[in-house]
Amino acid sequence: MSETAVQHLPVLLNEAVDALAPRDGGRYIDGTFGGGGHTRSILDRSAPGGQVLAFDRDPEAIERARQLSQTPSYQDRLAFVHASFGELRTIAPSFGFAPADGILLDLGLSSFQLDAPGRGFAFGLDGPLDMRFDTSTGPSAADLVNTLDEEEIARIIWQFGEDRNSRRIAAAIMRARSSAPIETTPRLASIVEQAVGGRRGAPTHPATRTFQALRIAVNEELETLASVLPDAVATLAPGGRLVVIAFHSLEDRIVKQFLKRESTQCLCPPEQPVCTCRHEASLALVGKAIKSGHDEIARNPRSRSAIMRVATRLPASVSTAA
Ligand SMILES: C[S@@+](CC[C@H](N)C(=O)[O-])C[C@H]1O[C@@H](n2cnc3c(N)ncnc32)[C@H](O)[C@@H]1O
Repeated sequence: MSETAVQHLPVLLNEAVDALAPRDGGRYIDGTFGGGGHTRSILDRSAPGGQVLAFDRDPEAIERARQLSQTPSYQDRLAFVHASFGELRTIAPSFGFAPADGILLDLGLSSFQLDAPGRGFAFGLDGPLDMRFDTSTGPSAADLVNTLDEEEIARIIWQFGEDRNSRRIAAAIMRARSSAPIETTPRLASIVEQAVGGRRGAPTHPATRTFQALRIAVNEELETLASVLPDAVATLAPGGRLVVIAFHSLEDRIVKQFLKRESTQCLCPPEQPVCTCRHEASLALVGKAIKSGHDEIARNPRSRSAIMRVATRLPASVSTAA
């Protein structure tokens, strides 16, 4: 059983790095190093003096960053930290990356993680039901399905998987775990499949949404995303770019609503004649949301659900003057 995926193809690589507009001497934060595809391109396009601070929760990704940092042309230009981007607000200043000229968040998981049976992200691969980005800490998906009560399991599958069979699946999980703990991906996949009455010609496996939901819950993905966005704005230099690539509607909704709010000068109801909210725009939107084109999707099917949004940090004087 191989634990190593061949590679991770960076999604919307040129679009994301173009949006960051790297320049010599700039300081950029890659919140999701993964296989380092975006980081490498930022370093190349900001040579000889541009720097990157890379975060990843996955110790294996950080080991890849360590190796990349030894590339002669990247020496002294790539710093890396094994931490969640949720800690950006405190970690970036300690590395000298606040203010930063650009911040990239390429959300979700890498092919290294998805394709490794031992990580437990894929229902099609036989492995332990883990799903933690950070394998050094925190409860796994098996811990959740074997300890949470039925209501909570149903809520997770409904809220993070938007699966209308959530209650039926939660009940089946409770029945199954009463005979033996659910510890592997194929066992959970078959419990879900039986609970919803098989595949019934559906294009996706019936466990797809349950697996997505558990992964989001295990890694507290949506809470972390919601909390990092204001921290990213606070960390950016005026004119610095925030680039976020989301892979499903739950993530993208958080990003879209945040960018809309933070690019709006006043949040009072339109019928109100005088502003009382005193809200000031901190961002300006850059273009519309960008999706992968046909060519990229053909080369890299995992890019099909990607959606990228970009905004620029406004200088404080503009936001107060506008
Ligand atoms: C889609 S991959 C990034 C791929 C990368 N841009 C590349 O070109 O190779 C997402 C990565 O983000 C990491 N990740 C997810 N949530 C994170 C968080 N809150 N903090 C830090 N890293 C996170 C995952 O472990 C994974 O390695």
